[in-house]
Amino acid sequence: MEPLLSVQDIVKRFGGLTAVDHVSMDVFPGEVIGLVGDNGAGKSTLIKIVSGVYQADEGQIYFDGRLVHIARPSDARDMGIETIYQDLALAGNLSVSANIFLGREVKRNYLGGLVRMLDEKRMLSESQRVLDQLEIRIPAMMQKIENLSGGQRQAVAIARAIFWNARLMIMDEPTNNLGVTEQRKVLDLIRRLRDQGVPVILISHTMHDVFAVSDRIVVLHRGRKVAEKRTTETDPEEIVQYMIGLRDDTRPTQ
Ligand SMILES: Nc1ncnc2c1ncn2[C@@H]1O[C@H](COP(=O)(O)OP(=O)(O)O)[C@@H](O)[C@H]1O
Ligand SMILES: [Mg+2]
Repeated sequence: MEPLLSVQDIVKRFGGLTAVDHVSMDVFPGEVIGLVGDNGAGKSTLIKIVSGVYQADEGQIYFDGRLVHIARPSDARDMGIETIYQDLALAGNLSVSANIFLGREVKRNYLGGLVRMLDEKRMLSESQRVLDQLEIRIPAMMQKIENLSGGQRQAVAIARAIFWNARLMIMDEPTNNLGVTEQRKVLDLIRRLRDQGVPVILISHTMHDVFAVSDRIVVLHRGRKVAEKRTTETDPEEIVQYMIGLRDDTRPTQ
């Protein structure tokens, strides 16, 4: 099987600091990758390169087997790479369906084009369809986002990405600031995405979440990839040892 995403030998420097240091990683269809590491390990910088926020200083990115140049976030989105950050970029004063369509509202012609109006009915039914597909239940679709819980907002952000045909989902600390029940729902959503063939890169410092949903775990330490393990072949203690620099698979054994 071909990887959907392959990053090779990526380097990113900020002044004298090497935030990402020759990192390579593959993501295959239908798998969840846990991307872990201590604060400052380079996780967010690496995914910002994939999502077009930063440009790598060195290295290549392949998507669908082709060398790609991701110069800006819209390049990534056009390919189907959707990234959900902690601040979800939802509009609090708008409804659920308006948020799913944010910036891409469906317009319909009335009176032979004299009046163009948002087709709210269609936005509502399409929003409902994508929420149903993900088994997300939101009682009142016309409710403003600001009245929803953190987990429901997270679900709307995921639904929006899916609606616009995400082929790869990247989530940076998605369960931060959520209650336990809501954390579980987000983890369920990640599993459902995987089952529908959409691979997920999950950044989390919560070992429980990573072990609950990931198929593979990639550990960064000071910008370097120090381990890559099948989740079934490691355990949280071992991963923490890689995270804090006690273990390093790139170090020659004495
Ligand atoms: N825009 C930036 N300018 C300068 N340094 C940065 C910038 N973004 C991140 N860094 C630095 O790069 C390193 C990696 O950061 P980051 O990727 O955010 O780590 P993580 O997400 O693993 O906590 C850190 O030392 C951080 O201070
Ligand atoms: Mg980060």
